[in-house]
Formats: sequence, structure tokens, C-alpha cells
Amino acid sequence: MAGVRLINVWKEFDNVVAVKNMTLEVKDGEFMILLGPSGCGKTTTLRMIAGLEEPTRGQIYIGDRLVADPEKDVFVPPKDRDIAMVFQSYALYPHMTVYDNIAFPLKLRKVPKNEIDRRVREVAELLGLTELLKRKPRELSGGQRQRVALGRAIIRKPQVFLMDEPLSNLDAKLRVKMRAELKKLQKQLGVTTIYVTHDQVEAMTMGDRIAVINIGVLQQVGTPEEVYNKPSNTFVAGFIGTPPMNFLKGTLLEDGRMDFGEFLLRLTPDQFEISKDYVGKTLTLGIRPEDIYDAELSPIQDEENTVVGRVEILENLGNEKIVHVSIGEHSLTASLPPESKAREGSKIKLVLNIRKAHLFRESGDAIF
Ligand SMILES: Nc1ncnc2c1ncn2[C@@H]1O[C@H](COP(=O)(O)OP(=O)(O)OP(=O)(O)O)[C@@H](O)[C@H]1O
Ligand SMILES: [Mg+2]
Repeated sequence: MAGVRLINVWKEFDNVVAVKNMTLEVKDGEFMILLGPSGCGKTTTLRMIAGLEEPTRGQIYIGDRLVADPEKDVFVPPKDRDIAMVFQSYALYPHMTVYDNIAFPLKLRKVPKNEIDRRVREVAELLGLTELLKRKPRELSGGQRQRVALGRAIIRKPQVFLMDEPLSNLDAKLRVKMRAELKKLQKQLGVTTIYVTHDQVEAMTMGDRIAVINIGVLQQVGTPEEVYNKPSNTFVAGFIGTPPMNFLKGTLLEDGRMDFGEFLLRLTPDQFEISKDYVGKTLTLGIRPEDIYDAELSPIQDEENTVVGRVEILENLGNEKIVHVSIGEHSLTASLPPESKAREGSKIKLVLNIRKAHLFRESGDAIF
């Protein structure tokens, strides 16, 4: 087992900087998620760790071993890195059965036959492939093929697992099941895992820690709780959470209120203390939909943080009602309990739980 370290790693293609000065430490046995929108550099980062791409600059360590450093001319090829990978676009051996595909890495390593058989059956059971062991890949659905690829990776115990969106081809129900299974399996095996996804729910539910990336730049690394509750900037704040956090642009006043044109809100004394230096500046207040209440059902009363708007759209999800409310130029999304009497086209009074709010500078960096 081994951790993975990236130190000031860059990857430039002809005219694209895919990864910019990335420094990231993945601890031994940790489940680390690389999360970010399409094209942000997740796969490129994983491929550099695997040895399928060479960094333009910087160092990569697996355990204590330097595996890539262009300045020192160090480059350890993939086969000598003791990693197992599952790719976004996986390839199975078409002429082999599911059984043989999964068994392949162990056969290569000359593991005894009965041991191979035991482990293939164990992995097949876990991935729901037991009934399919005799089939060929062409006789499988996309999701089944993906599970075979996953099985082939987890059948042996490498130093590091690298997984690139391994659940993306599965249907929603199976994905939820596999999320939990994969997380449990990773804990059992204790193998350091770097898992790429652009799905923030997957990231929140599976990761010990999440590394949030945007346009090749690492934005924040933290536990799911940290990135959710203490986002370091507006990108992280807006990327994690559904429906996403609301952002309101306004000006901080001397008395600790914020002016949004159509309405004012009052920060708590503690919040104002931290943000005093920004009086007179344009700032962005962030508040999550679940921290906004229907005044009729609100657990808190706070006159100064109550606003009135018009419900433009209401989405009834059964267990909650998502309302999109306009207040003049501004709009707010709130998730309300099913008992809410909110109606499309009607007025609604909303209470903002200001204690849960975040404040960001114009640059996007968080003040709190
Ligand atoms: N071989 C390559 N040559 C040139 N540009 C590349 C190459 N591989 C990736 N890129 C570019 O580098 C950037 C990062 O790509 P990457 O595949 O790492 O993104 P990603 O985060 O994995 O996205 P997705 O979620 O869509 O898979 C993109 O702008 C991409 O177009
Ligand atoms: Mg990718």
C-alpha cells in the first residue's frame, strides 16, 4: 500500500494547459475523489499518475518512490507502478468470457488456479456478474461490461486503484448500489484509491476527501463536510449541492446589513466582525436552498432576513418542493417541505437562515 503525491504538476498539450501547478497528497488507504466539470483535467491527472502521460513539469510519487519528474528524467512506465485502473472507456478482451476477462490479471501473475477461481467468483458475486461468467463481452449491456472492467481491476490488490468514472454507464439504481459497494470494498481492501467523477453526489457519498478542480486548477481539498460547509470559493460553493447555492450580489453597509437593491439582509455580529474590512465593497452572499424557509413553516423568526417574492416555478419532488422565486432582479431557489402552500405565480414570504450564509469577495474567494 502507498499514498500518492503530486507536487507542482503541470500538463500542457499543444495549446491547452490541462493541469496547472497541481499539488495534492493522497494518504495511504485513502479514498480520494477528483471532482470537476467536463474538460477540467481529471482524466489527464489520473493518466499522469498511471504513467500513461508524462507531466510537463513537477513530480509524482507513489509511496516514497519518485515515478515521474521530467527535470530529473525520471519516468516509471505503467506496468512498473503497481496500479490497477478502470477507464472511462474501458476495453475488454472480446474473445474471452467474462470469467477469463476478470481472471486475466491473476493469470498473468501465475496465481494458482483454485485461488483464481475463488477470487473470480467472489468479485463476480459482488458485482452481480455470477450469472454472466460464461458470456462474451459482445453479449453484455454497456453497464454489465463496465462491471466486468471493474471486476478485472479489483481482483488483485495493487498499491493504488485509479478509477475514471467507473459507474457512468450504469442505470441510476445500480449506480446507487455500486456506490455503496465500492466504498465498502475499498475500506475492506484498504487500497489507496483515486476516483474521478463529475457527479457531486457520487463524490459526497464515496470520498474520504474530495479534490475539486476547475479548468486545470485545484480549487479545494477537503472532506465532503468541509467542501460542503466551508467552500473556499464561489466555484466550489456552486458546484457542490443540488439545487445549487444561491448567489446574491450586494454591498456591505457600515451597520452590518447588506444592500441588494430590492431588499436588505442583516449579517450576524460574528459574520460582520470577519467582513468589516469590506464595507462599501460589492460582495456575493451565498445561501443554500435548504437554508431558506417558507415563513409560514419557518423554525426561526428573523424580520430583518425575511423577503417577499413571487414563485416563478415550483417543482414538486414529493418529499420536497423546490421553488424558484424572483425578488425584483434577484432570484432565489428554496427547497421547502411538502406541507408548504407555495403556488406558482403567487407571492411567498421567505426567511433566510443567515447563520448558514457564506460571503465571497469579488474575486470569488470566501470571506466566511
Ligand atoms: N491528448 C490530448 N491532446 C490535446 N488536448 C488534450 C488531450 N487530452 C486532453 N486534452 C485537453 O485537456 C483538457 C482536460 O482534459 P481531460 O480529459 O483531462 O478532462 P476531464 O476532466 O477528464 O473531462 P471529462 O469529464 O469530460 O472526462 C481538455 O481541454 C482536453 O481537451
Ligand atoms: Mg475524463
